[in-house]
Amino acid sequence: MTRLTAAATSAGRAAAVARALARAEGFVSGEALARAAGVSRVAVQAYVRRLVDAGATVEARAGSGYRMVAPPVRPDGPGVAAHGGSSGVAPARWLGSQIEHHPKLPSTNDGAIEAARRGAQEGLVVVTDLQTAGRGRRGRTWLSPEGGLYFSMLLRPPLAARRLALLGITVGLGVSRALARLGIADVALKWPNDVVVDGRKVAGVLVEASVDTERVAWAVVGVGIDAGKAPPDLADTAVGLAELREPADALSRAAVLAAVLDWTEPELERLYSDDPALMVDVSASCETLGSEVVVTLPDGSTVQGTATALDHDGCLVLRTAEGEVRLASGDVTAVRGR
Ligand code: BTN
Repeated sequence: MTRLTAAATSAGRAAAVARALARAEGFVSGEALARAAGVSRVAVQAYVRRLVDAGATVEARAGSGYRMVAPPVRPDGPGVAAHGGSSGVAPARWLGSQIEHHPKLPSTNDGAIEAARRGAQEGLVVVTDLQTAGRGRRGRTWLSPEGGLYFSMLLRPPLAARRLALLGITVGLGVSRALARLGIADVALKWPNDVVVDGRKVAGVLVEASVDTERVAWAVVGVGIDAGKAPPDLADTAVGLAELREPADALSRAAVLAAVLDWTEPELERLYSDDPALMVDVSASCETLGSEVVVTLPDGSTVQGTATALDHDGCLVLRTAEGEVRLASGDVTAVRGR
């Protein structure tokens, strides 16, 4: 496990990578760079990319690592520290202030839940290359082979317990914005918190939380993104990033993680400050609205109707033959041929 305890901001870590690269004579391996800069191995590529965006020329060679051919205009200056980097938005300040990387875990949600119970700070991110017991919503298995991006964020949101459902869709919005910025077209949300492209799921979000009578004490929000290609037997319902972008291998998992953290943090801050514009944006991105749907509820029963809105607590408002209902969770299937 790599634990980062530096009070480092994302910008501070980028500057540390720049300094470590600048000090190295010749090539330096990603691992040595991560050690020298105090960042996780998985984050190194994203920081190198940020340096390149800031004007540096960096040579990357398989087996040798990285060599700074020419530094950015000011290695510690705004070029690195304030530049939005490859994700096109201000770098996250607290989300990902600590990143734990594990080569393999049963589930990153379990890792983050343990950390929450130990009292770890909001913003911790647990990321792994491979999950052996990945979980999906409603007790489903989330297949997590190498090549995908699996991570969980520890949040301590100032949120009333009844608004917990909003966390998933808010993170979904952050993920969808990051993917759009990374060149994926037509990214949308599907209630309650899937991220889809042309109706096929590209990312899933799982929220697990400790809630007392009124408030959310902590919440762990796990995100799984298929960075490669969806398995052939799931091709009708799932899609991977490599199938959606040309050239197919252009997105590293580290770059996707960095972009998701950068885009999700401001959405979470809008949720925490109860910004009404958040629900406007979530609703605008939510392809479920306006459709005739069948919703399978947690007890297995179904409700059919037209999805008309999301309310202030993230519940789906459905107009049914019997009247209006509000649903806090469920699985949505579109009714075709209408
Ligand atoms: C879903 O759509 O059913 C949610 C899938 C969430 C999967 C992610 S992968 C990282 C984190 N760890 C888990 O065990 N699950 C979530």
